[in-house]
Amino acid sequence: MGRGGEQMSFGRMHRKEDARFIRGRGTYTDDVRLPGMLYGAILRSPHAHARIVSVDTSAAEAHPKVRAVITGQTLAGLNLAWMPTLSNDIQAVLATDKVRFQGQEVAFVVAEDPYSARDALELIDVDYEPLDAVIDARKALDPGAPVIRDDLEGRTGNHIFDWEAGDRARTDAVFERAEVTVAQDMLYPRVHPAPLETCGAVADFDKVTGKLTVWCPTQAPHAHRTLYAMVAGLPEHKIRVISPDIGGGFGGKVGIYPGYVCAIVGSIVTGKPVKWMEDRSENLMSTAFARDYHMRGEIAATRDGRIQGIRVKVLADHGAFNGTAQPTKFPAGFFHVFSGSYDIETAHCEVTGVYTNKAPGGVAYACSFRVTEAVYLVERMVDVLAAELGMDPAELRLRNLLKPEQFPYTSPTGWEYDSGDYPKALRLAMDLAGYDKLRAEQADKRARGELMGIGVSFFTEAVGAGPRKHMDILGLGMADGAELRVHPTGKAVLRVSCQSQGQGHETTFAQIVGQELGIPADDVEVVHGDTDQTPFGLGTYGSRSTPVSGAATAIVARKVRDRAKIVAAAMLEASPDDLEWADGRWSVVGDPSTGKSLAEIALAAHSNLELPEGVEGHLDAVTVYNPPNLTYPFGAYICVVDVDPGTGQVKVRRFVAVDDCGVRINPMIVEGQIHGGLADGVGMALMQVMAFDEDGNHLGASFMDYLLPTSMECPSWELGETVTPSPTHPIGAKGVGESATVGSPAAVVNAVVDALAPYGVRHADMPLTPANVWRVVNGNPFRT
Ligand code: CDP
Repeated sequence: MGRGGEQMSFGRMHRKEDARFIRGRGTYTDDVRLPGMLYGAILRSPHAHARIVSVDTSAAEAHPKVRAVITGQTLAGLNLAWMPTLSNDIQAVLATDKVRFQGQEVAFVVAEDPYSARDALELIDVDYEPLDAVIDARKALDPGAPVIRDDLEGRTGNHIFDWEAGDRARTDAVFERAEVTVAQDMLYPRVHPAPLETCGAVADFDKVTGKLTVWCPTQAPHAHRTLYAMVAGLPEHKIRVISPDIGGGFGGKVGIYPGYVCAIVGSIVTGKPVKWMEDRSENLMSTAFARDYHMRGEIAATRDGRIQGIRVKVLADHGAFNGTAQPTKFPAGFFHVFSGSYDIETAHCEVTGVYTNKAPGGVAYACSFRVTEAVYLVERMVDVLAAELGMDPAELRLRNLLKPEQFPYTSPTGWEYDSGDYPKALRLAMDLAGYDKLRAEQADKRARGELMGIGVSFFTEAVGAGPRKHMDILGLGMADGAELRVHPTGKAVLRVSCQSQGQGHETTFAQIVGQELGIPADDVEVVHGDTDQTPFGLGTYGSRSTPVSGAATAIVARKVRDRAKIVAAAMLEASPDDLEWADGRWSVVGDPSTGKSLAEIALAAHSNLELPEGVEGHLDAVTVYNPPNLTYPFGAYICVVDVDPGTGQVKVRRFVAVDDCGVRINPMIVEGQIHGGLADGVGMALMQVMAFDEDGNHLGASFMDYLLPTSMECPSWELGETVTPSPTHPIGAKGVGESATVGSPAAVVNAVVDALAPYGVRHADMPLTPANVWRVVNGNPFRT
């Protein structure tokens, strides 16, 4: 705390943005209302796979309130029927030849009000010729499987890519001579980020100026603008993307959806602003899913529990268009981190991507690309090994965790973990949980026939994508800009390219500036989410904001501080070399009474004070930050569950989470991020799956079927922390936004499987709904 209780540094501070959010004064895309605005609605395919024979729009066009009906053919005439995906594939904006998943976009109606637009959808007559669908990814490569992407030249099957990492020969050799090996098939089911605010856009094309303005809840406004310019051929400086308040993104709002393009075309065609907002079912059926990895893991170890090698095969279901958001070089995201937090001699994985008749996506749902799947795999496998060896899973982990002196550590797949003290974090979690006592309680309960489970997981994430030499999305490097302007009275405006979806950047980024310049965080306005107002950068996902834009913020503030030093030296008639920065002031070394605050220096910088030759006035600076490495947050989680053998109901009784995200800017926000992620993990482990029937009908397109966790399913979280600063980040911070979503599902599943151990159960796939647990209990009563 600074003078007068004002927050000038890192620490707990209420979010600035809460003032508007708790009063219902946020401005979301759907709050944007422009004069003369029209409304769009999308006609979607009822089939998972069908040929389009004809589309008759005449009745809809005759509707008195309809202004335009746009079909795939209309777009084909503008060369806009297809758009690039984030994975260098193409995706239909509106279908021309075939529909390839249920809910795919077929036509777009623009009307005077939203109800007429929806009514007119009913008047469009589409003649479909249904085709066999590929729903199970494991059948996508069967000879004779229907070919989904026959639009792609020369395509005869549903194979997208093969990718591998690690050393196959060395890993195979370790498995050959291992004392113990275990193997397990598992599915990380298809889930959905399910933000409370659905997707949508308001597009306004001004024919006079040629300027297009798009409001939409994008996590990456600058990338959207560049892609619109590239795809539509519009000049980039004539495009403005505004991302207002966002009601949750979780990775689902990174890509460009067909509805956005339709709203833009609708505005160009009608000459009016057009708003399109999807409803809940549309969001769940057609926007990006996450995970859907069929995995087989194997571990080789010594009989006394030393893990030597890990081998993985993955079949990745990418849906009908390869729209996953991954850095170009990494089609399986950061799945490489599958050797986890352990000192393993060698590792190898192979991933095969396939098309199926499901919505495209594969987004990094609250995780750094595919690291969630990797963490789940290795943490389940370690438990499978513990069961095989008859060892305590926490003990097995402690035996294999990387040691502090091994950092920076290069993993067997070539990633350089920056810093960590893993055993300390796990021991702290065990102490907080009272691990030994819990095991004793479990033994008592087992003796009485009660099912209690204790699940441990340890994760390492890789966040802050990323170093330009390794990472880009569609050729755009992943560096972030920051601009800082200090007004004459010492109030500052920070402009950043990242885009908050509720993570509190307006507070924490102001705190970073406050910490660096010794001014209250309340004196710093953070501007983001408007391409006309902010420098270029790739946006917010994969917990990259603090590692990349946060670092840019610290560096731009330091540039301002360096300039302030020169001004202060002129004010004090001293040499800059004789000044020191202490307590938020520049003063002559050893004489704090000479101290000049930033506000005093800012006023002088704008005055007629004579500055040394070549030194410009004012206190403004810009920077572009290219991270030297990712940051590697980590954590140790322990979950305690009770399972009712009669109903299969799982109750998460306790959850202890020790997180290390390096230096914490605002511990209150960090804890909030962890709470949310833990709830996410409970949801995925126990409740959620995007299910389909064998014809590709979506079985979870509402919140009655696709369940979100509430306080009823969550315990009172018990948090702990260790702090191991990142040596490559200017303030030592690592990302945290997604850690808990990454680390918690394995802890919950490990706990449930542990509870079911008396039945000989070693693995059960998520979601562990009462029905699934009951089946495991009753279907495999004494499986070994
Ligand atoms: O990219 P995203 O904002 O989703 O994730 P993040 O960079 O991990 O940050 C989430 C929130 O936690 C932001 O408000 C961060 O500034 C804050 N945070 C923090 O206070 N200290 C850290 N070490 C990491 C994040």
